[in-house]
Amino acid sequence: MRSIYCFIVIVALVVCSVEGKAWQANYDEAKIPKYTLPDPLVMADGSKVVSPEQWRTKRRAEILDLFKKHVYGAMPSAMSIAHVDRVSFIDNALAGKARLLQESFYFKKDRSGPKIDVCVFLPPKTKKVKAYPAFLILNFFGNRTIHTDENIRMYTGHARLKPGRAGRGGKWPIEDIVGRGYALVTACYNNFDIDHRVQGPKFDDGVHQLYPKYQGRSDNWASIGAWAWGMSRILDYLEKLEFVDAKRVVAMGHSRLGKTALWAGATDQRFALVISNNSGCGGAALARRRIGESVWRINTSFPHWFCAKHKEYNDNENVMPVDQHMLISLIAPRPVYVGSATGDKWADPRGEFLSCVGADAVYKLLNTSGLASHSLPAIEKPLVGTINYHLRKGKHDVTKFDWTQYLDFADRYIK
Ligand code: GCU
Repeated sequence: MRSIYCFIVIVALVVCSVEGKAWQANYDEAKIPKYTLPDPLVMADGSKVVSPEQWRTKRRAEILDLFKKHVYGAMPSAMSIAHVDRVSFIDNALAGKARLLQESFYFKKDRSGPKIDVCVFLPPKTKKVKAYPAFLILNFFGNRTIHTDENIRMYTGHARLKPGRAGRGGKWPIEDIVGRGYALVTACYNNFDIDHRVQGPKFDDGVHQLYPKYQGRSDNWASIGAWAWGMSRILDYLEKLEFVDAKRVVAMGHSRLGKTALWAGATDQRFALVISNNSGCGGAALARRRIGESVWRINTSFPHWFCAKHKEYNDNENVMPVDQHMLISLIAPRPVYVGSATGDKWADPRGEFLSCVGADAVYKLLNTSGLASHSLPAIEKPLVGTINYHLRKGKHDVTKFDWTQYLDFADRYIK
């Protein structure tokens, strides 16, 4: 009996020392610490941004730089694609509802190093359309997991991935996407950088090995940065692909990949639209609210997602020179959609909305309609504008309701 008791105490001590402290997420609005958001329209020298010109030529660059130094790390320049190998191109995928092009690309001439396996679903061939607008979405568990169609090749990459397993966000409604006239482009995020959640941070594999100079710095290029950079490289690939109109591409992602889509949209202005679904802490949610997942929590569970400097803001969000409304501002004036869910408290749905509110002044300065209201909308009553937001019922996921809104959103701008 006594030895069992000792065992429990030891386990408890180990758990506490691993986590560093006992911690419980706050879900109570009344317990939010006092905070003031940095103003995206005040320059580093204290002067006010009063013209779109000042935003474009000065303030935007200042904010982008702050996110690189304090949150996601440096973003290397593009690396050109050395080879694109066609694996297959079939006309009758999804029981004849789509064409499916599968290609792999490499950055190195000898095909060593990262290999990116891309899947492009296209609407059936017609004489009318040659280049389609597209949704670009990274997936979690390999291309094969987003749909049951056996024409999709099995993932051959990292062993931790289980082929055949449904991805986070469930099976994707590819028939609806191509049926509405869009291409769907996807690759597994682990192709760019393995999500070393268990092993801890490691920045010398995946695409990080292509740019060793960023390792060990306070603004080191970390995993979200590598995935976002990967989205841009897929966009480079699409610029050369005759079937997709690279000027009409949506960067979309769910959860950690929603954080990634926002950072991709911020760093690469070629993305026409950006959609972040349930992206939460480090994504659309304001860090200073500390509701649900906090900066300390995310940096402890996922030390590899953000740069080393970001750890300085653990339980110290108020001194961060940015907050996530400024990330959304970086997407302006391009249309953005932030989707939240009532049951996704960990991601702080209200905080995701308040980021949209905080970005609104920038969108308005840039002569767009911005956000239609500064009050949290009713459940499943989307706010439609240049900044779009909805709060749907249910849990952390990408549902049919979400997809309907995202397709309507894309129709408004890039159809
Ligand atoms: C965890 C993490 C979130 C993240 C999510 C996901 O819940 O705490 O920040 O968004 O995983 O990517 O699934």
